[in-house]
Amino acid sequence: MIADLFDTQHTTLYLEIEPSNRCNARCSICPTTRRTPPTNMDMRTFCRIIESYVAYRPTMPLNRLVDDPAWPVLFLAGGGEPLINPQMEDMVGLAARSGFQTILVTNAALLTKDRIKALEDAGLAEVYVSFIGIKPDEYRRSMGIDYDKTYANVMQLRESKIPFRLTYTAASTLESTDAQITAFWQARKIEIAGPNPVWNRGGHLEQSRSKGRPAEPVRPPRFDIPCWCLRLKYWDSISANGDYVMCCCDYFGPSQPLGNLAQDSLATVHGNYARRLEQPHDICRACLRPDAFVSVGRAVHDFLRRHGFHL
Ligand SMILES: C[S@@+](CC[C@H](N)C(=O)[O-])C[C@H]1O[C@@H](n2cnc3c(N)ncnc32)[C@H](O)[C@@H]1O
Ligand code: SF4
Ligand code: SF4
Repeated sequence: MIADLFDTQHTTLYLEIEPSNRCNARCSICPTTRRTPPTNMDMRTFCRIIESYVAYRPTMPLNRLVDDPAWPVLFLAGGGEPLINPQMEDMVGLAARSGFQTILVTNAALLTKDRIKALEDAGLAEVYVSFIGIKPDEYRRSMGIDYDKTYANVMQLRESKIPFRLTYTAASTLESTDAQITAFWQARKIEIAGPNPVWNRGGHLEQSRSKGRPAEPVRPPRFDIPCWCLRLKYWDSISANGDYVMCCCDYFGPSQPLGNLAQDSLATVHGNYARRLEQPHDICRACLRPDAFVSVGRAVHDFLRRHGFHL
């Protein structure tokens, strides 16, 4: 069964749902080619998606191996700001009650004290806050939102019981060094992860090389290996209208969905999955950072070790 984890068949270790494709920020490193119309996922679609994955979980080789429906981990993120959806707290509550480890990825601009409390009560497992810059000017240049307000929200979050970490991307708009950024957050007893490299999101981020720090290594996918990107094997990405898209790069620009989970069954959509690896897709040909996701391998490795497998 362990061998199943390394073949080219798809298995959903990570499920990313986009609660909203709208955003209140304008990050320099994020494609601005938003989908139209602006959409918040409705609760009916969200429920249907959760029900589909609850039924799918027991069939997964990794879950069967350890007799624990631990996977997939659910990320509420996407190509917009999740907290724009006023039903976020209800979504977290349903996902947590359904047994999903649920992680919110947010710019935190809308993360008020009341919403933090509601998310905590709903059972949110963790928050990743995207925070690029430690000075008001560089932050505003990097993200296009107000520093003081978001900083205050982060400090409120620190008072809650929800585990969280800050993440940042190596945007060219940053003037602070990595050492300064790390020291700044460590002094406030806040975990900081980064810098994450800027990648071109399947070609949707125009002139991506100028958006990141100079001399960043970039690597195109290797199409001579059967599964050229771990996203394709391990990750499901669902956009705000329920479309099951090729990968998170396909949130931006015109997508080629493999189905729509507001109408189609997960089995049907996963059945279309083979199409993902038949031939390189346009976004993959343009993509310069498929290796941004090698951490998937480490997470599986750690999980198996915790369950007594010595790999
Ligand atoms: C697309 S956002 C969605 C959730 C939310 N709006 C946020 O920013 O946290 C998820 C993460 O992707 C990162 N990101 C966006 N564009 C990127 C790029 N071109 N390269 C690297 N990371 C990027 C953001 O900084 C953020 O941490
Ligand atoms: S990275 Fe997140 S916060 Fe920034 S523009 Fe993109 S979706 Fe909005
Ligand atoms: S190669 Fe890039 S565009 Fe293709 S699936 Fe991987 S991350 Fe997405």
